[in-house]
Amino acid sequence: GAGPDLAGRHVVVSAGGTREPLDPVRFLGNRSSGKQGYALARTAAARGARVTLVSANSALPKPAGVDLVHVGSARELHEAVTEAAADADAVVMAAAVADFRPASYAGGKIKKKDGQDPEPLALVRNPDILAGLSADRPRAGQVVAGFAAETDDVLAHGRAKLAAKGCDLLVVNEVGESKTFGAEENEAVVLGADGSETAVPHGPKEALAETVWDLIAQRFPGQG
Ligand code: C5P
Repeated sequence: GAGPDLAGRHVVVSAGGTREPLDPVRFLGNRSSGKQGYALARTAAARGARVTLVSANSALPKPAGVDLVHVGSARELHEAVTEAAADADAVVMAAAVADFRPASYAGGKIKKKDGQDPEPLALVRNPDILAGLSADRPRAGQVVAGFAAETDDVLAHGRAKLAAKGCDLLVVNEVGESKTFGAEENEAVVLGADGSETAVPHGPKEALAETVWDLIAQRFPGQG
C-alpha cells in the first residue's frame, strides 16, 4: 500500500456477476466470484478512501470499513452504481455485467410441455454502465476504470474496448476455463486512454488492485 493517499476520496467499486432472471427460480449468470472487486474495495479502504462496494451475487464476506450494497441484475447494478457515483472521485467497474437479459420475465416458473421443443430464448441488451458513466460523468474529473476479460488477442481487443467504452483505464485479463474467474491470483495489463500500458505480473488480486489505485490516484485532477 501507498499509505492513506486516498483519504478524503469517495470511490465506487462494482464486484461479482449479475444474474438476469428468467422466472422466479432461474437466471442467466456468469462465473465471477467477486474476488477482484472485493480486493479493490479492501485496498482502497486501507488507503483511506470512503468506499461504496456494489456487489452482485458474491458469497464473499463484507470487507471491514466499506459501505456494501447488494444487487442482483444488471439493471439493479446500474441503478446502485449511478446513485453512488454522483459524488465519487473514481468508479471501478470490476463486476461481470450481463450484456443481455431475457426479453421477458415469467412471473411463474416456466414449464416444459410434453413432446414439444422449447421456445427459443429471446434476449435484449442491458445498458452498458461503464460506457454510460464514461460518456456522462456526474462529476468533473471523475476517473472511470473498467475490466475486460478476453480469450485471445488481448491487447488489440483491450485497446478497441477502451476506446469504445470511453473510460480512463481498462484492466485487461486473459481468461480461459480455469483462468481468473474464481482464482486467487490474476495477471493483467492496465491500458490507459493516454496510451499508457502497465503490465501487472501474475500475483494476488490485491497486488493488481494496488496498481489500479496507483494509476487512478495519478489521474485525479491536480495530480502530476
Ligand atoms: O463489453 P464487456 O462486457 O467486455 O466490458 C467489460 C467492462 O464493461 C467491465 O468493466 C464491466 O463491468 C463493464 N460493463 C458494464 N455494463 C455492461 C457490460 C459490461 O458496465 N452492460
